[in-house]
Amino acid sequence: MSSSSYTVFYGSLVNPETLTSYETSLNTLVAVNSHGIIDWVVRDVSDALVQTTLLEKGCPDAEVVDLKDGQFIMPGFVDTHTHAPQLPNIGSGHQYELLEWLKHVTFPMEAKFCDVEFARKTYSSVVHRIINHGTTTCCYYGTLHLDATKELANIVHSLGQRAFVGKCNMDRNSEPYYVEPSWQSSVDDTKALISHIRTLESGSSGIPLVKPILTPRFAISCSSPLLSSLGEMATADPSLHIQTHISENLSEIEFTKQLFPECKSYADVYDSYGLLRDNTVLAHAVHLSKDEIELIANRKAGISHCPTSNFNLNSGVAPIGKYLDRGIKVGLGTDVSGGFSPSILNSIQNASIASKVIAMQNRGQNNYESGKFANSQLSIATLLYLATLGGAQVCALDHVVGSLVPGKSFDAIIVDVRNTAGNPAMWDINAGTHDLKDHDALEGMLQRFLFCGDDRNISDVFVQGRRIGGRNY
Ligand code: GUN
Ligand code: FE
Repeated sequence: MSSSSYTVFYGSLVNPETLTSYETSLNTLVAVNSHGIIDWVVRDVSDALVQTTLLEKGCPDAEVVDLKDGQFIMPGFVDTHTHAPQLPNIGSGHQYELLEWLKHVTFPMEAKFCDVEFARKTYSSVVHRIINHGTTTCCYYGTLHLDATKELANIVHSLGQRAFVGKCNMDRNSEPYYVEPSWQSSVDDTKALISHIRTLESGSSGIPLVKPILTPRFAISCSSPLLSSLGEMATADPSLHIQTHISENLSEIEFTKQLFPECKSYADVYDSYGLLRDNTVLAHAVHLSKDEIELIANRKAGISHCPTSNFNLNSGVAPIGKYLDRGIKVGLGTDVSGGFSPSILNSIQNASIASKVIAMQNRGQNNYESGKFANSQLSIATLLYLATLGGAQVCALDHVVGSLVPGKSFDAIIVDVRNTAGNPAMWDINAGTHDLKDHDALEGMLQRFLFCGDDRNISDVFVQGRRIGGRNY
């Protein structure tokens, strides 16, 4: 490979490390090869030594992208749970709780995606919007429709986002106009979608960016023969990811128990059908019992924390700290349109508030759990981790994305907190004594971005080294 096929980013870097630590590095060189893989990272290189370093690394002709003061680079966000067909409903329906909201708000909108032309137009705008919010990996639910969900996968593929795309399995307990005719047709359509997605061409590294994911909507919407068949498909193909909802709302839990009296718990329903494993993404998990937490931990399944939706649909506050203490993988999800923002920044903000609500409720009580995270507000390090590396773990993709280290794909965003980005919440970021070039300033910029930032502050979005969106795109 010729050295000029490298792109080297030069500037400030923010990177998650563990649940309790992250790095802020200045004057850093991040070298990305022509396959979109990070080859090397060198920190603290002064302006004068950039060319010497490139020479030493054998790529003197590399294209250098200079970040400005007030910009930094960080891993792209991982949205572990969202519903592409619900974007048009964003910001409506907050007066309902889950089951009524599905009936009155969500199913009527999703039913419109029987029209493939409508699906194509809507999904194109949806995926653009999600990319521009800095989401480089996304777990999408489509509708129950095969053709519309193929369109969603095609659009994600053509726009270059990394994603999992699933067709909802739902053969019962819905509305007559929006339910699959039989468990067999649900399974047939699911197999057809998987084949379709697997024929989409792979990225330049040979790693397919778009992958299929089994999507039994939730236990309520799936008959026993349907869950059995999906479980068989999963067993036959351990690489096949699975996503579903769990224990979001008290009425939902009650109904689930009535439908599956033979199962010990909601989590046990999925486990009984072979759907709880290390590449299963469980959305919400607001009201899990101790036994369910143990079961999920033992199966190494991941939890998608969707705090905006949990507040908006009055579902409850998920005890994420408790799950982290138990070693369960946790990422963030926007859960649009249960959640009213397609931005993981909004999930970060509400995850912070949710953790403070739990900490406040437990203050002065004797029911303190002894863990490190259970009763504390989530720190910046933890929030950053959940939004990136934690999400990558939930997707079983942490060997590929989630942090900017050699060997991983360059899935990254360039953040811009300067006044020129046009976000008034950032107005006085340059007004302090900092010159935006020391570690304290970089930490301040990160915090300001996480709590006040939006898509105006995301200038560039890269997946596997390819620029696919952002304000400058
Ligand atoms: N449970 C089943 N379907 C849905 C959905 O579309 N959104 C949410 N938040 N929960 C669900
Ligand atoms: Fe959801």
